[in-house]
Amino acid sequence: MSTKIAPSILSADFSILKEEIEDVIAGGADYIHIDVMDGHYVPNITIGPLVLSSIRPITDATLDVHLMIENPDQYVQDFVNAGADIITVHVEAAPHLHRTIHMIKEAGVKPGVVINPATPVEMIKPILKDVDLVLFMTVNPGFGGQSFIPEVLDKVNKAAKWREELGLSFEIEVDGGVNPETAKQCIDAGVDVLVAGSAIFNEKDRKQAIEKIRQSK
Ligand code: DX5
Ligand code: ZN
Repeated sequence: MSTKIAPSILSADFSILKEEIEDVIAGGADYIHIDVMDGHYVPNITIGPLVLSSIRPITDATLDVHLMIENPDQYVQDFVNAGADIITVHVEAAPHLHRTIHMIKEAGVKPGVVINPATPVEMIKPILKDVDLVLFMTVNPGFGGQSFIPEVLDKVNKAAKWREELGLSFEIEVDGGVNPETAKQCIDAGVDVLVAGSAIFNEKDRKQAIEKIRQSK
């Protein structure tokens, strides 16, 4: 199966957000990646449930909601109500990760776990059987346009191996610094979904930008 592409709207023009989303969907995007930041867990503030609920009616595409917030349990239901299809929470921000993941699942949304570049991959091993997606940060979360951290790919390799050994089927996604050059290494390491913000939205021709990342060899 070909690699999925999830444009991150963090790099979109918010004054014409609807057109930006329609443009990347017409260009072949599989998921729309939505970066939720609270100014506490990460040093930036972005999108909340209100914006998500305005995006929902625009598209049937999978809305992949990446929570970079403290206290995720408190907000899960708001993002479910706003129309998320996937909700991912950071292992570093969810002290009762098993509870949070099951809260998302019971609300009828696909749960995923996110792991920062400096966090050992062993931290997520016990939760792998409960998630639909594992998101590896390939930058330190908070901002678009940062450089890819290649060492994370060793962790991706390990998770892909565990997935096979344990007979699981979660998707592996990477987020941060993905462009046509770095995408190849990710695909080789076993990544299924590539998030890309600046490498798509900073290009005029989004269809071409998406294809270049997907076909990266
Ligand atoms: C970073 C966000 C990313 C970001 C990626 O905290 O989670 O989704 O938008 O941006 P690029 O692709 O520009 O690195
Ligand atoms: Zn993200």
